[in-house]
Amino acid sequence: MAQDAPTTIHLKDYKPAPYVPGDLFLNFSLEPRATRVTSRLQFSANPASKEKNAALVLTGERIKLVSVKLDSKALAASDYVFTDSDLTIPNIPAAPFTLEIETECDPVGNTALSGLYQSSGIFCTQCEAEGFRRITYFYDRPDVMTRYTVRMEANKAACPVLLSNGNFQEGGDIAGTDRHFAVWHDPHPKPSYLFALVAGDLAGVHGSFTTMSSKTVQLGIYVEKGKEDRCAWAMESLKASMRWDETAFGREYDLDVFNIVAVSDFNMGAMENKGLNVFNDKYILALPETATDLDYTNIEAIIAHEYFHNWTGNRITCRDWFQLCLKEGLTVFRDQEFSSDLRSRAVKRITDVKTLRARQMPEDAGPLAHPPRPNAYIEINNFYTPTVYEKGAEICRMMKTLIGEKAFRKAMDLYFERHDGEAATVEDFVACMADASGRDLSQFFKWYEQAGTPHVKVTTHYDAKAKTFDLTLAQKTAPTPGQADKQPMHIPLGLGLVGPSGEDMALDLEGVGSLNAPIIELTEEKKLFRFRNVTARPVLSLNRGFSAPVILQENVSPEDQLFLMGRDKDTFNRWEAGQSLGKSLIIANLAALRDKLPPPRSKGYADALQKTLADTTLDAAFKALMLGLPTEADIAAAIAKDVDTDLVLQSRNRLRAELGAELKDSLLAIWKDTEERGAYAPTPENTGRRSLRYAALGLLAAGAPKIAVDLIQRDLAKASNMTAEIGALSALVGIDAPETNLELENFHARHAGDSLLVDKWFSLHSQVATPGAAARIEALMGHPDFRLSTPNRVYALIGGFTAMNLSGFHAADGEGYRVVADTILKLDKTNPQVAARLATGFRSWRLMDEARRKAATVQLERIVATPGLSRDCFEIASKTLKG
Ligand code: BES
Ligand code: ZN
Repeated sequence: MAQDAPTTIHLKDYKPAPYVPGDLFLNFSLEPRATRVTSRLQFSANPASKEKNAALVLTGERIKLVSVKLDSKALAASDYVFTDSDLTIPNIPAAPFTLEIETECDPVGNTALSGLYQSSGIFCTQCEAEGFRRITYFYDRPDVMTRYTVRMEANKAACPVLLSNGNFQEGGDIAGTDRHFAVWHDPHPKPSYLFALVAGDLAGVHGSFTTMSSKTVQLGIYVEKGKEDRCAWAMESLKASMRWDETAFGREYDLDVFNIVAVSDFNMGAMENKGLNVFNDKYILALPETATDLDYTNIEAIIAHEYFHNWTGNRITCRDWFQLCLKEGLTVFRDQEFSSDLRSRAVKRITDVKTLRARQMPEDAGPLAHPPRPNAYIEINNFYTPTVYEKGAEICRMMKTLIGEKAFRKAMDLYFERHDGEAATVEDFVACMADASGRDLSQFFKWYEQAGTPHVKVTTHYDAKAKTFDLTLAQKTAPTPGQADKQPMHIPLGLGLVGPSGEDMALDLEGVGSLNAPIIELTEEKKLFRFRNVTARPVLSLNRGFSAPVILQENVSPEDQLFLMGRDKDTFNRWEAGQSLGKSLIIANLAALRDKLPPPRSKGYADALQKTLADTTLDAAFKALMLGLPTEADIAAAIAKDVDTDLVLQSRNRLRAELGAELKDSLLAIWKDTEERGAYAPTPENTGRRSLRYAALGLLAAGAPKIAVDLIQRDLAKASNMTAEIGALSALVGIDAPETNLELENFHARHAGDSLLVDKWFSLHSQVATPGAAARIEALMGHPDFRLSTPNRVYALIGGFTAMNLSGFHAADGEGYRVVADTILKLDKTNPQVAARLATGFRSWRLMDEARRKAATVQLERIVATPGLSRDCFEIASKTLKG
């Protein structure tokens, strides 16, 4: 390694800061290349700290220190010590004392997009997790909270709009200059990561919301000029979110204004700064011609997510960054509930589990596995992970399942009451769940502390004479880096015993009696559950609704799977039965391809899908999900070793081709039936209809390419909305058709001026799974529209390639790995956060066969050995290599 190993931060080392700040006054004199920031505040001794007369150590990074005044006296350079990460004033007078610090930063030169930067000429900030230290020296840690007053001044022509957190106080021209100013005050104490400032030539779209206690809140969405007409859906979604948090959780908004700003250069999706959310513009801007149904649902969910943070994150924040899932897991859970209430709960659950399987479970099974509440990190930005977010949300859901809906609401009320205004811990949160329900959640707490996905082995025995059904469950969690020994978890499992005609049989559990709720709890390593009075052989439907994020190891016959696919009352398990069956067929197919044997018979599966499509009681969105086979990554994870990704692709394609051919007539009928009628609307019904149309077209393309390509081209020619364009193009990209490149070029020509659509074009390209995919990616990086400095563009092309092009990224010749590693190293110099995110794409390399493993090792070693590598990339690449 070329440099000293960066320091690791440990949860056990948490100490409160020795001083606490009083109200903070910030003044910004905004200039693109040299912004001056003055911070003025008083510090008192922190009663919670054990340190007495401690030095004042404030963090600061990549800023120029101009001056420091302590109790109004300028300090000489000999009075303080500063390094590239902090400022220490060793001799501190008796507290309280006042401090005034002036610093300078360079927004235009800030390519990392953390701290104060410019995006298309707009000044904006991103402070979570540790960006505030790039603005001024401060206690940049979430347990230090204070009230902010922010004054900013800027050139009036360049920055007519001046925004910060809280409520607007005053503003005006600065006489004799071309500048003006504004003052904002936020009455709610907050940690520095929730600070935000925006200044620029923005267009505002306005609305208002009346809260449950009849207060009027002014709503504003600010976007680049000319994009005002793309804000209506975001505004509607915001109002829906505000209403929902009142009805579902009794939470009211607490300021007079709520503003959102959309910027085109943003590392993440969006940020919940108090009263001033900043968004990646792809999660705000939408018109039917520019945004797909998926974009519309994402916008709705992300607006909700950031809004919900106002209570779960802002009013109650995190004591330290190890507690990140306290706000993120809980808020994801809340946004999932919101979307379930507004749309189809069943469909939402299936899509959430698909995400969990695509992102979280691979993380949990690989070198980057960590508990939802980690014990240690090198770079906190690397811990905004699927495990913290999605598994964090699953943990909340499991607690709700365990204590019941009523107690859960009571527990949430208690949490808000007990910890409002505080920086809390995961322990505080779980204590509310336990106190409100009277349940002992001490074993359950291990979900926060133990990494890895539990495997639950299922064995069953039906005794017709005794009328008993024995269900034996054995749990095991494989070792993960740093955690060799695993303890049994507290696992709530929804279940049903499905009788011969599809009805749920009564659940009479020995030792318990008839179950109130159809849930059993596995707490031991192994346990037998005996059901009595089972009058006919049942088919077991376990982990209904995906009640626990575990992997079931079951030996279910294809007949029983087909039965559940058609009959289970639990829609999740109906879908799940189809997935299991699809997975076994693809794996059997793969073995057949490899050993040159005849393929397995897929007729039963095709017939079951046929029946599903014909079932008028099912909605279109669910049918679309049923048509989706497990992904290549799902298959690779199931095989788990020596994977040849080309074979996975081939065998999955072969099954798709068979099913498509078998179902041809039904798929064609769907295409005819689901034509666009009337104006575009992103309602659940219309979205469902379109998702079925394009799922059918995709499968038809695999089974009857000639017919499908003709339909696709017809759809493209008359497409009246972006969902139709992307749906048709995706179907084309899914097969190796000669028309693919032509239609992609047409798309580019149609939408060249629209950056969000150019992103879609790069993303479609990234998924083309033909030989030489890596070369295509490399060529596209030379395209005049490609920009390494724009995160959305990088995620579209390179992120899309690693996540959605398994055979291309994991190509046996190592070219996929090489191209991605080249990009990571180039990008690491300017934007380490985004580079590190790309590097997580390597997380499944150990599943692959030897040639691929070798090639991945070469690239990971090259990354780790690069002089000057960021902490961000060092942590991901070194752990991926070792773990
Ligand atoms: N607090 C995060 C934003 C964030 C993430 C800041 C990482 C700093 C580092 C925000 O609430 C968030 O979680 N955003 C998600 C989208 C959300 C819907 C899951 C994001 O940006 O991906
Ligand atoms: Zn969040």
